[in-house]
Amino acid sequence: MNAQKSEVAQDFSYDPFDPAVMADPLPYYRTLRDRRPVYYLEKWDTYAISRFADIWRVLEINDGTFVASEGTLPAATVLATHNDGPVPDPPLHPMPFHANFDAPIYDTVRRCTSPPLRPKPVGKLADRIRTLANERLDELLARGSFDLTQDYGGIVAASVVCELLGLPVDLAPDVLATVNVGSLAQPGSGVEVANARPGYLEYLIPIVQRSRASAGTNPVADNLIGYRLPDGSAFNDIEAATQMLGIFIGGTETVPKIVAHGLWELGRRPDQLAAVRADLDANVPVVREEMIRYCAPAQWFARTVRKPFTLHDTTIRPGQRVITLLASANRDEREYDDPDSFVWDRRIERLLAFGRGQHFCMGVHLARLEIGILVTEWLKRVSDWHVDHDAASRPPSSFQWGWNSVPVEVHVAGV
Ligand code: HEM
Repeated sequence: MNAQKSEVAQDFSYDPFDPAVMADPLPYYRTLRDRRPVYYLEKWDTYAISRFADIWRVLEINDGTFVASEGTLPAATVLATHNDGPVPDPPLHPMPFHANFDAPIYDTVRRCTSPPLRPKPVGKLADRIRTLANERLDELLARGSFDLTQDYGGIVAASVVCELLGLPVDLAPDVLATVNVGSLAQPGSGVEVANARPGYLEYLIPIVQRSRASAGTNPVADNLIGYRLPDGSAFNDIEAATQMLGIFIGGTETVPKIVAHGLWELGRRPDQLAAVRADLDANVPVVREEMIRYCAPAQWFARTVRKPFTLHDTTIRPGQRVITLLASANRDEREYDDPDSFVWDRRIERLLAFGRGQHFCMGVHLARLEIGILVTEWLKRVSDWHVDHDAASRPPSSFQWGWNSVPVEVHVAGV
C-alpha cells in the first residue's frame, strides 16, 4: 500500500496549463497539499503553494518580498522566460494595470478606483440591486427555463458594473459577453488577458474621454485623470481606462458563477435548503460564505519574488515566482472539516477566496451584497428548481474554473 502511494507521488506532475488540470484541478490540489506543498514547476520557474496556512502566511507579507511585477495572472509566455534576479516594477508608460506595481504606485492608483467599492457606498446599492434582481426574475420566471449563470446573476452583476462605471445599463448583456469571451483560457497557455483588452477598452476609453470633457459625474474617471505618477506625468486615455479593468472584469465574472453553482448545490440538498429557508435574513449571510468557499472559480494568482523567501525548507530566489492556489486553500482539510462537502452552516473562521493582504479583493463588499440579494430574492420567489446537469458547462480553465452555464427549469412559489 505504501509502495503504491509513493509510486503515485513519484509519477505525479502538476502544471496549471495542462489540459487535464484545467479540466478538473481538484485531485491535483489534494496531492499537492498532502505531498508537495511547495511544488517546483521547472518549465515556468515557479512554485505552486497549495496549503491554506502557507498561502495565508505568504499573502500577508507586505514588505516587497512578493510583487506582482509580471502580473497577477501571467500567461505561459511570460512564465516561460526565466529571470536572473529580481524583476523591477514595469516602466511608468505605457502604464499597465496598477496591480503590477509595488507601493507607493500600487496603493495610490488603487485609491483612485476603490471609493465606490467601500462599505458605505456599496450599502447604498442594496435597493437598486434588489430591483435589478427582481426585474430579471419577472422576465425569467415567466420564461420557465433559462441559464441561471448568465441570465440571472450575469445580467445583474454586469448591470451594476455599468452603473458603477457610468455606462448605459442596456449595455450589460454586451459587457457580460465581452468579459466571458476574454476569460476563456487556452489549454497550454492560460488566459491571454492582453489580447482581450482591446475589446474591454472599447467600453472604458469613452468613459475617460467623457470625464475629460466634463468632470464631476464619474468620480473614478475623475480620480484617474487627476492622478500624477511619481515623475509628475499623468495617464493618457488608454492608461486611465486600463485601471478600470479590475472593476469591469472582477465585477462581472465571479458573482454569477458563485450564485448559480451555490443555488445548484443548495437545491440538491433538500434538508439544507429547508434549513436556509426557515429564516432567510439570518441564514442567507451564512450559506453565502459556504457558497463563496465551495464555488469561487478563481484558481490561483501569481507573484514574482523580490527577496529570498523560505517555506518548508525550500528557498525561493528573487526572480522566481509563486502561484498561490486559492482554490486549493478553499478545499484544504487542514483548515476545513470534510472540505469537499457543501455544508450550509459550516464554521468558516478564515477564508482565502477573496485573497489576502496587499491585493485583497477590492469588490469584496459588493460581491457579498450581490450574492446575498441574488440568493434571497431567488429563494423568496422560486419554490422549486431543476438543473439540467448534463447540459451545464464548466469550461477547462487555469483562471476561472466555474460553471459558466447552468440551464435551469423553475417552479414559481404559489403556482
Ligand atoms: C465573490 C466574488 C469575488 C471573488 C471571489 C473575488 C476574488 C478576488 C481575489 C482572490 C482577488 C485577489 C487577486 C490577487 O491576489 O492577485 C481579487 C482582486 C480584485 N477584485 Fe475581486 N472577487 C470577487 C468580486 C469582485 C467584484 C464584485 C469586484 C468589483 C466590482 C472585484 C474587483 C477586484 C479588483 C479590482 C481586484 C484587484 C485588486 C488589486 O490587485 O489591487 N472583485 N478578487
